[in-house]
Amino acid sequence: MSGTDPYSDRGNKDVTITNPRPGGTFPHVKHGDQVAPAAGELPFLIGENMTGGYGRGPDILHDCTIFVDKGQIAVIVGPNGAGKSTGMKAVFGMLDLHGGRVVLDGEDISDLTPQARVAKGMAFVPQTNNIFTSMTVEENLEMGAFLRRDGIRQTMEQVYDLFPILKDKRRQMAGELSGGQRQQVAVGRALMTEPQLLMLDEPTAGVSPIVMDELFDRIIEVARTGISILMVEQNARQALEIADTGFVLVQGRNAFTDTGKALLANEEVRRSFLGG
Ligand SMILES: Nc1ncnc2c1ncn2[C@@H]1O[C@H](COP(=O)(O)OP(=O)(O)O)[C@@H](O)[C@H]1O
Ligand SMILES: [Mg+2]
Repeated sequence: MSGTDPYSDRGNKDVTITNPRPGGTFPHVKHGDQVAPAAGELPFLIGENMTGGYGRGPDILHDCTIFVDKGQIAVIVGPNGAGKSTGMKAVFGMLDLHGGRVVLDGEDISDLTPQARVAKGMAFVPQTNNIFTSMTVEENLEMGAFLRRDGIRQTMEQVYDLFPILKDKRRQMAGELSGGQRQQVAVGRALMTEPQLLMLDEPTAGVSPIVMDELFDRIIEVARTGISILMVEQNARQALEIADTGFVLVQGRNAFTDTGKALLANEEVRRSFLGG
């Protein structure tokens, strides 16, 4: 992967949660419930028309499409059991799809194992069990770099720059940290692979609003370095505020797809999914 400092263009510390990147148009989004990429161009990552479930069980995803462009933040929201985590697992190769495909940077990776997808630049922080609690913070970060042969130290310093508290606690068992700090370990560990796409399943679960804001700021900072973020969030309103693109999933289907801003302004989305 590139030898350049992925965080060299980090912004100042008081970054707001407004989207600093140019808004532009969204050629892959059609308003309403139909989602399709524009002919001839694909986003950096797309799970397109994904249909599938677990093992021999029923399909959980039905023609579900999720995508994100370079350096952008895409957020998946929706009720419990809507298939948000399943959609993430499908994109990461943990599900056998019966329909659809996953394309990363123009390459169809539908048949690749999760490990092979990591080698292609994908990193996934699952919803639960996303750190090694009986290892130190630093050992967790080292585990994240298992595919790397070089530059681990430099990447670790970048992670410590992003999450300074982790440097202070680097010799502590990760299991002793607070919820928010554990999530920082999980995100930091994922960043150790120097991914191009960072996938986060409910990174702010169980943390206070202040810690949530702080984590979102750090996620924006990561996106500004050119890393694409695909994230599931229960804090739908706050997450859509920082989202370039938002996906509302209901029963494994795309219910709404639009810019985060447009979804926040959409009466039906507000009433049904954002509590009014
Ligand atoms: N490992 C699994 N095996 C079988 N069914 C599962 C598994 N994980 C989730 N499901 C089912 O898939 C559906 C969607 O779950 P999930 O993707 O976890 O929803 P969400 O993340 O939106 O809350 C639910 O009906 C759930 O019971
Ligand atoms: Mg989930």
